[in-house]
Amino acid sequence: MSTTAVNLRQSRAAAFWYSNTGKKIVMAVTGAILFIFVIGHMLGNLQIFQGPERINSYGRFLHNLGEILWAERIVLLSAVVLHIIATVQLALRNKAARPIGYSRRDAINSSYASRTMYWSGPIVLAFVIFHLLHLTAGMIVPGAAFIEGDVYHNVVSGFQVWWVSAWYILAVCLLGLHLRHGIWSMFQSVGVNHPRYMPLLKQAAMWIAAVIVLGYISIPISVLLGLVK
Ligand code: HEM
Repeated sequence: MSTTAVNLRQSRAAAFWYSNTGKKIVMAVTGAILFIFVIGHMLGNLQIFQGPERINSYGRFLHNLGEILWAERIVLLSAVVLHIIATVQLALRNKAARPIGYSRRDAINSSYASRTMYWSGPIVLAFVIFHLLHLTAGMIVPGAAFIEGDVYHNVVSGFQVWWVSAWYILAVCLLGLHLRHGIWSMFQSVGVNHPRYMPLLKQAAMWIAAVIVLGYISIPISVLLGLVK
């Protein structure tokens, strides 16, 4: 490829990234990647209800993926970083374009979920860091000792500590709030925003988020109730 063609590609990519539309697309695509992970991870975790052997062999299967697992981790980490950068830059641009700040009318017009995006996001991020140190690295050990490869033991002994379960439940509820608005925005980004379907799409976003929240919190709740031990 000639140098001119490479330069042209680079300047197109830069123009895309610097435009508001480009940043919104980056937010939507990275959000979709993280959303798919959240669903897959929830389905994987629900195998805990089928007993220790099942969830532990699922854990072994993931670890045996080797390079594929690392590729997935790199994609996830890149998606998180790009999602945050695009969000912060867009928020700063919006703020600069509105020097007086939000008026009461703006606040009324924006939904509760959309106003929570800016604080639910950072709390979910803090939760993910805690979660990785807890269940992946075994560096935060609130319950019995961390046992490498024994996912069942690590999850159950962690959730038997009430504040760990409470923190997971709170964070997952905030994730649900974040997802509800995120899914709704995703529908709009891909052009599914006909006024006739708006109420239906809003409901769909709410139900998808609710199913995800219920799926995740069913685990700490079952441990606290002694149904999983
Ligand atoms: C009840 C809720 C949850 C449980 C029981 C759970 C369980 C686990 C476990 C056992 C691992 C370690 C897997 C291993 O290394 O063998 C893990 C990793 C992970 N979890 Fe969760 N998780 C929960 C919620 C979440 C949520 C809500 C998110 C995201 C918002 C999340 C994101 C991650 C990530 C990014 C990893 C690292 C994946 C990797 O190593 O590639 N988890 N989770």
